[in-house]
Amino acid sequence: MTTAGRVAICPGSFDPLTLGHVDLVRRAAALFERIVIGVLVNEQKQPLLPAHDRVALARAVFVDEPRIEVETFGGLLVDFARQRGARVIVRGLRSAADFDYESPMALMNRRLHGELETVFLVPSPDVHAISSRLVKEIWRLGGDVSGLVPPPVEAHLRALRATK
Ligand code: PNS
Repeated sequence: MTTAGRVAICPGSFDPLTLGHVDLVRRAAALFERIVIGVLVNEQKQPLLPAHDRVALARAVFVDEPRIEVETFGGLLVDFARQRGARVIVRGLRSAADFDYESPMALMNRRLHGELETVFLVPSPDVHAISSRLVKEIWRLGGDVSGLVPPPVEAHLRALRATK
C-alpha cells in the first residue's frame, strides 16, 4: 500500500457520535495507519450539537487512541481528503438503503478526485440498528440512549436535557 493509502478519512455529521460510528472507526483503524474523523460543519443543517461539541466528544471517546484524530471540515469532502493526504474514505454500510445513499456520493467523489477510493465497512450486528437520527428522536422524546452512544455522549446528552 502507498503511504497516502495509509491515511483514511471517516467523514460524517456525528450528530451525535453513536456506538455505530465507534465500531466503524475502530474497524477502519485496524486497516489503516491513521484515521482522521472529519466532522462536517454545515451551516445549512440545524444540528442538535454544535460542531465544537461534536469534535470534543469524539476526541474524548478516542482519547487513548493516538492514531485516531478528529477535525472539522466544511466544503467538499474531496478537498478535505486532499488537504489531509488521504486517498481513502471509509463509510459504514448497514443496509440497501445505506447503499442507495452512499453510492452516488462515492461516484461523485471519485469523479471529483479520481484517486480517492470509498471503502465500505459492515458494522457489528450489535450496533446495526443504531443511527444518529434514531438516537436524536429517542433523546427528544425522553427515552434512554444508553447502549446506543458512548458514555461521554450519553453524559453530554443527559446534561443537555437538564438544561431544556
Ligand atoms: O453522517 P452523514 O450526515 O451521513 O455524512 C454525510 C457526509 C458528511 C459524508 C456528506 O454529506 C459529505 O461528504 N458532505 C461534504 C460535502 C460534499 O463533499 N458533498 C459532495 C458529496 S458527493
